[in-house]
Amino acid sequence: MANVVIVGTQWGDEGKGKVVDLYAENADVVVRFQGGNNAGHTLVVKGEQTILHLIPSGILHDNKVCIIGNGVVVDPAVLLGEIDDLRARGLFPPNTRLLVSEKAHIIMPYHRRLDAARENRRGGKKIGTTGRGIGPAYEDKVARCGVRLIDLFDEGVLREKIAANLEEKNFLLTRYFGEEPVDAEEVFAEYREYGKRLKPFAADTSLALAREVRRGSRILFEGAQGSHLDVDHGTYPFVTSSNTVSANAACGAGIGPAAIHNVIGIVKAYTTRVGGGPFVTELTDAVGDHIQRVGREFGATTGRRRRCGWLDMVLVRHAIRVSGINALAITKLDVLTGLERLRICTAYENDQGERFTLAVPSQVEALAACRPVYEEIEGWTEDISQARRLEELPKNCRRYLELIANLADTELALVSVGAGRHETIVLRNPFSG
Ligand code: IMP
Repeated sequence: MANVVIVGTQWGDEGKGKVVDLYAENADVVVRFQGGNNAGHTLVVKGEQTILHLIPSGILHDNKVCIIGNGVVVDPAVLLGEIDDLRARGLFPPNTRLLVSEKAHIIMPYHRRLDAARENRRGGKKIGTTGRGIGPAYEDKVARCGVRLIDLFDEGVLREKIAANLEEKNFLLTRYFGEEPVDAEEVFAEYREYGKRLKPFAADTSLALAREVRRGSRILFEGAQGSHLDVDHGTYPFVTSSNTVSANAACGAGIGPAAIHNVIGIVKAYTTRVGGGPFVTELTDAVGDHIQRVGREFGATTGRRRRCGWLDMVLVRHAIRVSGINALAITKLDVLTGLERLRICTAYENDQGERFTLAVPSQVEALAACRPVYEEIEGWTEDISQARRLEELPKNCRRYLELIANLADTELALVSVGAGRHETIVLRNPFSG
């Protein structure tokens, strides 16, 4: 029996939601360990679409424990909204439990305000954040002045923390950014109410998880964003503010790394990026538009149009290394159907004649100066959504997959050929060791 982490190998939006939902069938516990409602996992179950920003995708299954770990930053209004919405639609099974770490940091109204104000100030150098206050919330966590879920249950502590934070934040907002201040009493009244409603879900989730590990439960750790948005290993500064790599599953959930056995890397069959930052294989032509349209590449959180490009194996190799990925799940392969020729980026080159194959250059300026080196293969035109075994795929489609596995030097665990739960070729069960 194995515990599994799922991470994106690109810049997020790899289709992790569907894979997590599928694997959740075999898991007892599903855990979010980083990020917040900057994520948006789109699930299509029985033809009905659900987008989750905070609650682990396992929630749609019977008899699971869903955990939001200490490494997540929680916007309580969003979390409560998701709970209410799922309940109203009958999608929150009564025998499935949701636990939120009492140590998880809370996104406050001033975090959202600062996120927006900083982005405005950056002008042409915008990161293109989701505007959800994620960065400022993590800043306060590290600066040791953050508000945690447990603080919402203690009126004295909550009032004091909000007042202390606003002394500084209002100075910044009014004097530096020239904006209106945030009212401490209003924030206190609003968040105290959130605390009352969230109390039944609060727990020491590290302890809860340890019990599950002892019991031999199968645990699925659901990464958000992608490897190249990792604050250490990504295309800094065009990254998010958390570690998105697999090792953070241990830290962000409060378990030891030895409790993690398999790491599945999600590779979308092409590349997308939302927000700013270099993108070596970006397509700004009709092919890019085609992929964007067919793949419905709009942000699940912000609705922004995603930038699209060819599959970039330098990104994927880098991600495999920093997360110790031992199997890949290929998603959205069907989106490429109908393209006459397909390209896969195998290396980058620059004007100095340097070649990069294993790692993305550490400086974004150096990355922006790179050109892609492509391998080209013929495409396929047949509908692949009914395929449930590799042998049922057209020859060129199989060649495309073989090329990915060879260039990655990593086996494939799953291939997704459509948005629905069962439009999938399953090659390996990651929980079976
Ligand atoms: P933040 O996480 O809102 O601070 O945004 C930082 C960068 O990460 C921006 O480029 C966002 O577009 C990107 N980002 C954050 N979350 C996601 C996600 O779930 N998918 C794709 N991009 C994301």
